[in-house]
Order: sequence, then structure tokens, then C-alpha cells
Amino acid sequence: MKKIIITGGAGFIGSHVVRRFVKQYKDIHIFNIDSLTYAGNLSNLSDIEKESNYTFIKGDIVDAEFINNLFEEHRFDGVIHLAAESHVDRSISDPISFVMTNVVGTVNLLNAFKNLWNDNFEGKRFYHVSTDEVYGSLGQDGLFTETTSYDPNSPYSASKASSDHFVRAYGETYGLPYVISNCSNNYGPNHFPEKLIPLFINNIINKKPLPVYGDGNYTRDWLYVEDHAVAIDLAFHRGKNHETYNIGGFNEWKNIDLVKLLCKQMDQKLQRKVSESEQLITYVKDRPGHDLRYAIDASKINKELGWMPSVTFEEGLAKTIDWYLSNTEWLENVTSGSYQNYYKNQYQ
Ligand code: NAD
Ligand code: TYD
Repeated sequence: MKKIIITGGAGFIGSHVVRRFVKQYKDIHIFNIDSLTYAGNLSNLSDIEKESNYTFIKGDIVDAEFINNLFEEHRFDGVIHLAAESHVDRSISDPISFVMTNVVGTVNLLNAFKNLWNDNFEGKRFYHVSTDEVYGSLGQDGLFTETTSYDPNSPYSASKASSDHFVRAYGETYGLPYVISNCSNNYGPNHFPEKLIPLFINNIINKKPLPVYGDGNYTRDWLYVEDHAVAIDLAFHRGKNHETYNIGGFNEWKNIDLVKLLCKQMDQKLQRKVSESEQLITYVKDRPGHDLRYAIDASKINKELGWMPSVTFEEGLAKTIDWYLSNTEWLENVTSGSYQNYYKNQYQ
């Protein structure tokens, strides 16, 4: 039986990727390796945890000995690497943990994969999940393509850019068969409520201020998380070796417009007065080094692999809000404990 290791499978995007692969490919055994940081949550996968083609192993990708032993024991045919520190604001206050997980962790995985298969990479693949933030910031016009120069501005994006470079370097130097995808901002169920959309959903539910950074005129390109999982599945199975695919939602929103749409949809669902939640909008101090605009040209994956987002933003946002409103216990669990300290420091 073929074996694939998915790193970071207990996190937001990873859990959707794990679920898709476990359900879709009964002839592949999926190993989910995750160290369960604050962002990792096994309850994200409670519906598939008993499937016979699924195994969870708790472990840290920064621990090279653990990773090497794991690869020797299970002889993985494929790697889908999502484990990362992923929040820009945390990277500003603690860059080193981003270097450790995102750079050192990635190189540990590359080494283990290279040493396991040595020169015989036939039928093997290393898939690296990355972000559009490596390209830096756009002005009012233009789109990121696969050939846009890297120009990262935050410690997070610098660490992801570095990991992308290592993956490419292992391809050139050792012939390691890789595919990289750089995706725009995701949203959907199981998103940790430190990122814009889930944080604001949680605050609207609790009638807490909605902290918009700067003037709110920053632009992001939003993609529903299950559409990202489909794109990863396609590019993992049908993408070409040594290629990069940009993945995006064809869906740009200024933060302030997005927040107003979110308020409107939530007021309807919570049967609150029209514009009630908009009153919670509070402009706060800007994020240092805040990238003005991200926007992806996803025409390559569209033309070569036939991928397109399946839901509109309005539909995806409505599905996301519904999920949070019917999973308040999940929200309460992840917003207790250390989250309270993070929140106090970030928004005091
Ligand atoms: P997340 O923070 O929700 O999840 C990360 C997961 O990795 C968690 O389960 C965490 O426990 C695990 N992890 C962290 N450090 C680890 C370590 N040292 N060893 C093992 N496991 C570890 O992140 P996400 O939003 O799901 O992002 C997943 C990947 O997709 C990341 O590589 C990120 O850079 C990339 N990405 C994210 C977005 C987005 O909008 N969220 C967009 C494009 C790309
Ligand atoms: P975020 O969800 O952190 O994703 P990223 O920084 O990776 O794009 O932020 C999305 C946008 O929302 C970004 O422009 C920063 C902004 N933002 C706020 O205005 N307030 C907040 O409290 C947060 C977390 C983000």
C-alpha cells in the first residue's frame, strides 16, 4: 500500500487535506504528523480518526532524529508538507520559532526524504505547501504569477520564502522530485480565531470590538479552504515535477469591505438589527511592515490541471459562519488558556 505523510494535518488547511485524502484514496495510507501546537487540534479530524487508512503520530518536524527514524520505519512514497508557524503577527513578536519550524523543519523533511530514496526517486514526490506572501506586496495593479520575484516583508513570509528556496535547491542539487504551490488567504471551518475572518466571527458572536489594522484598505485574495485542498490533490497527483503552481480565489477584497459583508451576514443569521455589528468596528494601530495587497494569477493551474474555485465568496463565507455558529464548543475550547494571553498582548 502506498504511504503518504501529511505534516501539520491537525491544523486548519492540513485537516481539510487529510480528510480529503483519507476519504478519496482508500488504497493510500495517510500518516498525519503534527506536534499539536496551539494551532493544532485533533478534534478537527474526529470524523475520520477511526478510518483504517489513517494514522496520527504526534511529533515535531524540528527534531531531525525523530523525522529520520519515522521515514526509515514507514518508507513514505510521498510527502505533503503543511506544518508551519503561520500567523504574521506572531512572527513579528517571535521570529525564531518561525525559522525553526518553517526553515529547519522543512530541511529536516527534505533530508529524510532524500536519504530514504537516495537516487531512486521514481514514483516519489515531495509537495510543499506555501503562500503568496513570499512575493511581497503589490501596488494597486498587477497579479502574482509563478515567475514573480520573491520579496518577502514579514518574518513569516521570509521563513516561507526560505523554505521554498530549499525545496527548489534540493530539486536542482539532488534531483529531488518536488512540486510547490503558493496560495492566497484561505478561510473556512476550523480556522484558528487569530486570523481576520474567524477572529471577527468570534468577536461578533461575543459583541467584542473588531480591531481593523490601519485604515482597513489592505487587500487580500480569499479562497475557501476546501477548494485549496482540491487544488493540492490535483497538483500532487497531476502536477509536473519541479513546477510551482499559484492558487488563488479570483476574489480580492479590501479588509474593510470584507468586514462589512461579514457583519451584514452575521446580523442576519443572529437576527440582530441591521448594521448592529458594524458598530463594533474599531480602527487600531497598524501591523508593522503590513503588505498592501496580495492577488494571485491562478491561470496556470486552471489551464494545466483544470482547477477552479467551486464556491463564491458570499457562499463560502455563509458556510463558514454557519460552521462557527454550530461549533461554539470548538471555539470556546481554542479560545481558552494561552489564547487569552496572546489576545491581551496583541490587542491591549
Ligand atoms: P495552522 O497554523 O492552522 O496549522 C499549522 C499546523 O502545523 C498545526 O496543526 C501545528 O500544530 C502544526 N505544526 C506547527 N509547528 C510544527 C512542528 N514544528 N512540527 C509538527 N507540526 C507542527 O496553519 P494553516 O493556516 O493550516 O497553514 C498550513 C500551511 O499552509 C502552512 O505551511 C502555511 O504557510 C500555508 N498557507 C496558509 C494559508 C492560509 O491562509 N492559512 C495560505 C497559503 C499557504
Ligand atoms: P490575516 O488573517 O492575519 O492574514 P495575512 O496577514 O496572512 O494576510 O490578516 C488578513 C488581513 O486582515 C491583513 O491585511 C491584516 C488584517 N487584520 C486586521 O485588520 N485585524 C486583525 O485583527 C487581523 C488578525 C488581521
